[in-house]
Amino acid sequence: MSVNNEKIRQLVERRNEARLGGGQKRIDSQHQKGKLTARERIELLLDEGSFEEYDMFVMHRTFSFGLDKEKYYTDGVITGRGTIDGRVIYVYSQDFTVFGGSLSETFALKICKVMDEAMKVGAPIIGLNDSGGARIQEGVRSLAGYAEIFQRNILASGLVPQLSAIFGPCAGGAVYSPALTDFILMTEHTSYMFVTGPKVVQTVTGEVISTEDLGGAHVHATKSGVSHFLAESEQEGILLIRKLLSYMPQNNLEDPPILKNDDPIDRLDDNLNEIIPDSANKPYNIKDVIRTTVDGNEFVEVQRNYAKNIVVGFARYNGRPVGIVANQPKYLAGVLDINASRKAARFVRFCDSFNIPIVTFVDVPGFLPGSGQEYGGIILHGAKLLFAYGEATVPKITITLRKSYGGAHDVMGCKQLRGDVNYAWPTAEIAVMGARGAVEVLESRKLSQITDEEERVKFLREKEEEYTDMFANPYQAAKFGFIDDIIEPRSTRFRIIRSLEALASKKQVNPPKKHSNIPL
Ligand code: HXC
Repeated sequence: MSVNNEKIRQLVERRNEARLGGGQKRIDSQHQKGKLTARERIELLLDEGSFEEYDMFVMHRTFSFGLDKEKYYTDGVITGRGTIDGRVIYVYSQDFTVFGGSLSETFALKICKVMDEAMKVGAPIIGLNDSGGARIQEGVRSLAGYAEIFQRNILASGLVPQLSAIFGPCAGGAVYSPALTDFILMTEHTSYMFVTGPKVVQTVTGEVISTEDLGGAHVHATKSGVSHFLAESEQEGILLIRKLLSYMPQNNLEDPPILKNDDPIDRLDDNLNEIIPDSANKPYNIKDVIRTTVDGNEFVEVQRNYAKNIVVGFARYNGRPVGIVANQPKYLAGVLDINASRKAARFVRFCDSFNIPIVTFVDVPGFLPGSGQEYGGIILHGAKLLFAYGEATVPKITITLRKSYGGAHDVMGCKQLRGDVNYAWPTAEIAVMGARGAVEVLESRKLSQITDEEERVKFLREKEEEYTDMFANPYQAAKFGFIDDIIEPRSTRFRIIRSLEALASKKQVNPPKKHSNIPL
């Protein structure tokens, strides 16, 4: 064998060794837990054959605790770039088979390298997490490594999309890198996230709780809102990441890709003319409205199981990606509360960061009243959503379907928060408050004088009807130009598409400043 060929043989041998990570036994154990390996995940995520690996031969630099005798190529994280639907993305995938995917100094440097390059070229970063946290043997060097990653997450925020998948443990300070990214996806039963694990919780507070109940995928999808997507399997999660990216541009200077659309833009849907129930207090499913109007009825919902009184997610109109925000009358009558405000505010800001127009469907009775909400700071949380809408410079189209009362009317993409096109259905009720509340305030003196219950009910009904006729309609708002047009519900799709096309060249810039001070 020539010297050259011998060297190539050695390269192939080293590569094969690197590809085995922590060894076949640990790979088998990973599979037995129902998990894929870090490399299998990358293969599924990227276009076939597109992966270019970086730093395969990196090893840790630690000598204590006998680590000088235990070294693995890659040092526990696979990094590099590849393509998804032909577009470049940067990826890192933590390898649990090497020291439990724990983060060493060199491990962090590898991640930082791909993050730096992604920011330079303007391409999304995808992190696949499966790690036992800080590499204990490395002590503070590991903490420094985390902080290096956090700093890059912060600098990349709003510059390139950052997506995190949690496919195993993610605990301690390690949770903060995913938390700094745009979206978190978790898999059922195999992933968990918490700042302190069950053992520490029990020691400090006495609370006995399982890993799953403390930080499992279900908890973060329904209770904390930390996770945006819940996947039944890693395969399903990875496909969802690929799909999500199709709604996003590569970076903040580009527009999201427009896909070919086969769904007729002038498709009318007569069902929409009937969807609002006759009684004002009867619910309907806002997702039916969304799906009916968007291309191919396809809607990718974000945080589906959290704060269900507001619905957010991605869809397309004539191939153009949009972010949809919609009150959900089916849950809590679509009221705005703390969690709904936070959920929608973050989504609006994501869309605005990445030039994704926002379409808002309004049917909101107001903010949820009560001490629970006030003590929890609904004032500040509601202001987040208000701030997000007012700050956003992307095209904004708002359609009021039914109720739009009080402060919630202003918050939900109204004209004066720079709504570009504001439509209402004829069923809209745009007013300072609902009829019952208004009558109780305006007629309180008279009401207190009526002692006969029957008479009181009759008086209330009459006054409510009077108020409803006068204010619970879209014409007052249209009279002042706060609504641009009152449209037939069945033509909603067509009207949105035409508006989006007109607004595609919109340019709006906020006053220059260091950054705003959103009420966090
Ligand atoms: C070094 C680690 C490790 C770690 C796991 N391993 N975690 N090595 N540092 N943090 C190694 C194990 O020694 C083992 O090596 C292999 O990875 C697999 O671990 P197992 O325990 O056998 O796996 P499993 O039973 O599935 O349990 C997984 C686990 C557990 C729950 C994650 O390993 C665990 O509790 N690890 C420690 C978690 C932790 O306390 N991390 C530090 C948190 S502090 P062998 O050779 O047997 O295969 C932190 C601060 C970050 O993260 C701050 C950032 C700002």
